[in-house]
Amino acid sequence: MGKCGCEFLSTHLYNLKKMYKADFTVVNGENSAVGNGISRESAEVIFSSGADVITTGNHAFHKSEAADMFRENSNILRPANFPEGAPGNGFCVVDFGRTQIAVINLMGTLLMESLDNPFYTADKIISSLDTPNIFVDFHAEATSEKKALGFYLSKRVTAVLGTHTHVQTADEAVLEGHTAYITDAGMTGAEDSVIGFDKGCALTRIKEHFPVRFKESESSPFICGVSVEFDEKCGKAVSIERIILR
Ligand SMILES: [Fe+2]
Repeated sequence: MGKCGCEFLSTHLYNLKKMYKADFTVVNGENSAVGNGISRESAEVIFSSGADVITTGNHAFHKSEAADMFRENSNILRPANFPEGAPGNGFCVVDFGRTQIAVINLMGTLLMESLDNPFYTADKIISSLDTPNIFVDFHAEATSEKKALGFYLSKRVTAVLGTHTHVQTADEAVLEGHTAYITDAGMTGAEDSVIGFDKGCALTRIKEHFPVRFKESESSPFICGVSVEFDEKCGKAVSIERIILR
């Protein structure tokens, strides 16, 4: 989330990856640019911090350069259930030689824009993949929709990891002994804030219904996320652990 989140990520992601022995890292960058969306500058910070793939969400196309970025770099994803013809890709496969890992980015449709059905979009993509190692970033608002997709894809993908609400949930689990799941992985940005925004501005807007501009908060940054251990031979998750680094 914004400058504060990007700076904190670039200072700490490398050590975090070492601590968790992470071979592969996915970062949702849809609010990484100042004023939300993703920019060339913020994507560069996220990749150079150690991300292999960047996912996005409802703010994917907020910045004018985003469409070109999605076309140019297949490891920057926009939700796969955007209408046909949207620039870029909704999934990618990263080849590590001995193994391949697919990442699918989907967006929810409950309390969000009415995109294509994320469940059927997932079916279509999964049937085209040649690897059992499949990570899904489900960028959605409703906890019910997220949990439903978790069960729908259980035993077919390695992980269904929710994003978008910025608040980490405590329901991490390995569904049906196969698929790592969390309703929301949480955000990287200012902890002492209203989902990353300055408390004062957020209060004026939410309490008084006064149209002030949200301003990013820069106080007490933290990183939220999850670590998933999985068996690359069958794509089965062994464990999922929540991460909060202050
Ligand atoms: Fe979002």
